[in-house]
Amino acid sequence: MAVRKKIKFGALIHGVGGNISAWRHPEIPADASVNFGFYKQQALTAEAGLFDLLFIADGLYITEKSIPHFLNRFEPVTILSALASVTSRIGLVGTLSTSYSEPFTVARQFASLDHISGGRAGWNVVTSPLEGSARNYGKTEHPSHDERYRIAEEFLEVARGLWDSWEDGAFIRDKESGVFFDPAKMHRLNHKGKYFSVEGPLNIARSKQGHPVIFQAGSSESGKNLAARSADAVFTGHETIEEAREFYRDVKGRAAALGRSPDEIAIFPGIGPIIGRTEEEAERKYEEIASLVSIDKALDFLGRFFDHHDFSQYPLDEPFPDLGDLGSNSFRSGTDKIKRTAKEQGLTLRQVALRSATPRGEFVGTPERIADLIQRWHEEEAADGFIIHSALPSGLSDFVDLVVPILQQRGIYRTEYESDTLRGNLGLPIPENRYARGKVTS
Ligand SMILES: Cc1cc2nc3c(=O)[nH]c(=O)nc-3n(C[C@H](O)[C@H](O)[C@H](O)COP(=O)(O)O)c2cc1C
Repeated sequence: MAVRKKIKFGALIHGVGGNISAWRHPEIPADASVNFGFYKQQALTAEAGLFDLLFIADGLYITEKSIPHFLNRFEPVTILSALASVTSRIGLVGTLSTSYSEPFTVARQFASLDHISGGRAGWNVVTSPLEGSARNYGKTEHPSHDERYRIAEEFLEVARGLWDSWEDGAFIRDKESGVFFDPAKMHRLNHKGKYFSVEGPLNIARSKQGHPVIFQAGSSESGKNLAARSADAVFTGHETIEEAREFYRDVKGRAAALGRSPDEIAIFPGIGPIIGRTEEEAERKYEEIASLVSIDKALDFLGRFFDHHDFSQYPLDEPFPDLGDLGSNSFRSGTDKIKRTAKEQGLTLRQVALRSATPRGEFVGTPERIADLIQRWHEEEAADGFIIHSALPSGLSDFVDLVVPILQQRGIYRTEYESDTLRGNLGLPIPENRYARGKVTS
């Protein structure tokens, strides 16, 4: 069997948090989502823990019922550019939608971040689940789930083509002769497709990692196909190791069927570890966060996955309502799972809402227990790495101070960065420039 790469980690920096009420916890600065000092401190903690990357999620539509973090937060590429200048090794991955942007702009933004950071940029490609996003972008209709993925495929193809606009060494910059660039090394894409028409070239060169790393988040059939064809890494969410293993096998199998090496695509389930010096302390910390969430807030939180559906109209203590197709045009993989679990386990609406607002997961306990679980998920091919999202800021520093050393002692996590690029640290190849293929480079 091939030697397994070491475990990778990403830190989701999420301001006041993904929990709808965690902002009320005494430990969280109430303005964390727009507080650069907070982001900087979290980034430096993750870098001290030798994490591969920081991860910034995003969205394009809010209502009065959105979670506090979504109401007032930084745009990903902007905050990552600022963080690039206060960090030196950690990767910088930002979410940007292919349904509401233009490939020329996005390719430029990530290429710029890649240069600013010396080859540490990554783009989390999302298709935008919420219908209301269309109304923020002057569109009359939100494209269907399937069409959003078709747009994403073409979008990525164009972005990749644009990133190859300039071959290495194209910029000669010879002051003596006055030659700034070599026109033979500049390429126009001349793309004319169903959704985009882009001439090129892009007005920025490749960075030292070639292309920014492509993450993909979306776990439906179309999501998995997009990942298998076009992604370097996948952000996903699973409650059990069995489910995660199945997803891992499925995506790697799809990539292999397309002629890719399964090693070229890294799978990162998101986990929210809650760490205590004893099991009881960890339980107490979980309860402290869970107790902040009222049932009304939990219903709002659940509603967003179903495109801000109003769940207050149903009885709380009766079986989860039959929603038909609702949700399948927004967070399809997530809403399918919620409906399936509710049915299989006979859950009430109250139970479903509270579980989704404060998921407990397996990763609650002592540092040893968390390290054991991480090792098991990694060894049993349920994960290549993990995106750590902590409900409280101290969750990240606890992880770095208490869990990381155990993994290092076991020899399954790095003790220093291997590279100064994100691709280098993830062990991913540098994509060849399509125009330089077959040319001998000096
Ligand atoms: C783990 C995970 C993280 C996601 N993060 C984001 C995000 O930050 N912003 C966003 O607009 N959509 C995000 N999405 C939504 C997807 O991009 C997609 O629109 C939605 O999940 C529907 O696709 P699916 O049915 O293939 O999962 C995420 C989805 C998953 C599963």
